[in-house]
Amino acid sequence: MADDSPPVTTPPSRPRIAVILAAGKGSRMKSGRPKPLHGVAGRPMLAWILDTARQAGCTRLLVVVGHGADAVRREFDADDVEWVLQEELLGTGHAVAQAEPHVTEEATVLVINGDTPLVTAATLAGMAEAAEAGWGAIATTEMEPTNRLGRILAEGGRLQRIVEAADATPEELAVRWVNVGFYAFPAPDLFDHLRRLSPDNAQGEYYLTDVAGQAVAEGRPVDLVTLEDPAEGLGVNDRGDLAIAHRAMLDRHHERLMAEGVTILDPASTAIEPTVRVGRDTVIHPSVSLFGHTRIGEDCVLHQGCWVRDSTVGDGVEVQPYSLLDDCEVAADCHVGPFARLRPASVLLQGARVGNFVELKKTRLGEGAKANHLTYLGDAEVGPGANIGAGVVTCNYDGQNKHRTEIGEGAFVGSDSMLVAPVRVGDRATTGAGSVVTHDVPDDALAVGRARQRTIPEWTRRQRGKTAEPGDPKS
Ligand code: UD1
Ligand code: CA
Repeated sequence: MADDSPPVTTPPSRPRIAVILAAGKGSRMKSGRPKPLHGVAGRPMLAWILDTARQAGCTRLLVVVGHGADAVRREFDADDVEWVLQEELLGTGHAVAQAEPHVTEEATVLVINGDTPLVTAATLAGMAEAAEAGWGAIATTEMEPTNRLGRILAEGGRLQRIVEAADATPEELAVRWVNVGFYAFPAPDLFDHLRRLSPDNAQGEYYLTDVAGQAVAEGRPVDLVTLEDPAEGLGVNDRGDLAIAHRAMLDRHHERLMAEGVTILDPASTAIEPTVRVGRDTVIHPSVSLFGHTRIGEDCVLHQGCWVRDSTVGDGVEVQPYSLLDDCEVAADCHVGPFARLRPASVLLQGARVGNFVELKKTRLGEGAKANHLTYLGDAEVGPGANIGAGVVTCNYDGQNKHRTEIGEGAFVGSDSMLVAPVRVGDRATTGAGSVVTHDVPDDALAVGRARQRTIPEWTRRQRGKTAEPGDPKS
């Protein structure tokens, strides 16, 4: 799982069911995609919330969808997600009510607004525990009273009701405690309350928030749970919120990594997705981006501007500035870059070196092999200790098919050799600089495939208006 929050330890006294509200239009996103699919730190917002709910001990995950329902369903094929359709958007209370037929057991229902990717498992589990010990729980945090969030009206620290900003008096709007959209209520009581809601309010909606006031009025206690970090309550409503959520999710992971002994010199310019693992004493320079299932070993140095996705890097590797590693494996003690490009299915075995302006695709470099300058190696297998000179190219594509190049152990491929695949350069074999190698080179052999040099002594370059000299190749 992507998040590192501690697993829930207290066993729940009744099953926990998450109901995630994700049917809204999200019109302020100005997007063709449904809001829950917008990405935060490399994954759709909804994916984060689902993981967090799982970690909070929810054994069932109900997602209420409406706007763009099919697109949302298609994106998530997890077996444990159940879809609830809200055909008409009549408010958050109406949205939760659609889940009633799915909840037949006594359970704690955790309702989570579907646009809050930063909520943590600790918060949700704490709310569920509060609800299990009493009746219900609602999360709150303190904010400058300039927003449009629901206000928490309390007396003596006890919740009385929630008033939506649209319905609030000026005094109520001045309240700094807001409803962030996380609730824990017991079923079936929750659904009794929902059936009794009325849309008699400024927005003509069924407000889930009215459940709180109703329950309290009937003597059922609703606990207020204060967020440890107010950022958890961030609801993403527009692209500005999305950027804040993205940054906050990355910052959290950077802090975790630093606590584990990773040096991140400039966290603000760095983007390490929470799915990425980095070993201790590795040093990350500014503007490095690490994505997906990347694993970086211990004692590595990733210099400025490196971009790494879904790749595994062993211990003690140095990646020089502006190198790109995509879906590849780099073993311990290798050197990469600057300006190297390792494309998918490339493998560097221990101590191999890839230098500037070298591109690898589906290529294995054996232990200690080197390709230091201006080279393209595609569909190639390079033996241990081989040396690939500057400007070498594997000509792997004939316009229709890709062909393989094999370079043996300890081979020396001279600068600017064109290896026309399929072709094999044998163990300890050598190719002369500038050779076009079209036939296999046996072990220990030298192959030179280029025009022999002709030298014409005392030859003067042709000048305007003069006739060619004898010996001029054009004469
Ligand atoms: C709601 C709360 C408000 C709280 C705020 C926090 C209500 C009545 N108000 O505001 O107190 O401060 O969240 O962000 O609940 N949704 C549906 N179906 C609907 C309506 C909404 O699934 O019919 C979903 C949306 O997709 C969204 C979530 O519910 O994920 C919250 O909806 P949104 O419109 O953003 O919040 P408000 O109702 O304005
Ligand atoms: Ca919202």
